[in-house]
Amino acid sequence: MVALGAPAGASGGAGGALGYGAAIAEGASLYALNCAVCHGKAAGGLAEAKLSFPPEERTCTRCHRPSNRTVQSLSEPVVDNDMFSLGTPPPLIATAEHPTGLTLTAAPAALWAYVSATMPRYEPGRQTPAEYWLLTAYLLDLNGRGAAAAEAVAAATR
Ligand code: HEC
Ligand code: HEC
Repeated sequence: MVALGAPAGASGGAGGALGYGAAIAEGASLYALNCAVCHGKAAGGLAEAKLSFPPEERTCTRCHRPSNRTVQSLSEPVVDNDMFSLGTPPPLIATAEHPTGLTLTAAPAALWAYVSATMPRYEPGRQTPAEYWLLTAYLLDLNGRGAAAAEAVAAATR
């Protein structure tokens, strides 16, 4: 249950009567914690995400080898230089090199189903259903699709 005015992202899920702005802020916070590490803080993709790492760690494939498995829960023991592969996390907004932006332009439910089933890529299904709706709402809002985002907000708080 998220009370209005609760610290964004501090909750375990939605379910309360969240207004649009508060729901998008929750989604932004969930995105920053769970998604930005691969897709970039401003959703600009891996190239942007790398800028948050120290220069000596930007060759991600040194440890996240492309031939490694993609799913690897962080609750398993980690081997520093032998981690899940990252794939090529695309921008989730339109950028100069990626003018299409988010490719999933179907109903919000399709985007929710995709992120619930596949993201975060190394541990899909980790978030609650309501959290995936908030993430969906945030991504739609970020792409200027306010009406669809409002549908996702409604689904998150149902
Ligand atoms: C380990 C890196 C990684 C993390 C963390 C991650 N993603 Fe992804 N994401 C990817 C990759 C790589 C793809 C491209 C498809 C694939 O290889 O699975 C992708 C694709 C996507 C797409 C499809 C974009 C499109 O236009 O088709 C969406 C949406 C998405 N991710 C959302 C999220 C959300 C939301 C989170 C956080 C809950 C997240 N991702 C966390 C790596 C990641
Ligand atoms: C020196 C080895 C090494 C390099 C280089 C490295 N990682 Fe990692 N990464 C790890 C290890 C070990 C973990 C698991 C333990 C932890 O979270 O620190 C991890 C965890 C992660 C996670 C999941 C936990 C989280 O913080 O969200 C993501 C996503 C990730 N790395 C992405 C990246 C990206 C993107 C790069 C390149 C910019 C990168 N890593 C570079 C070793 C590395």
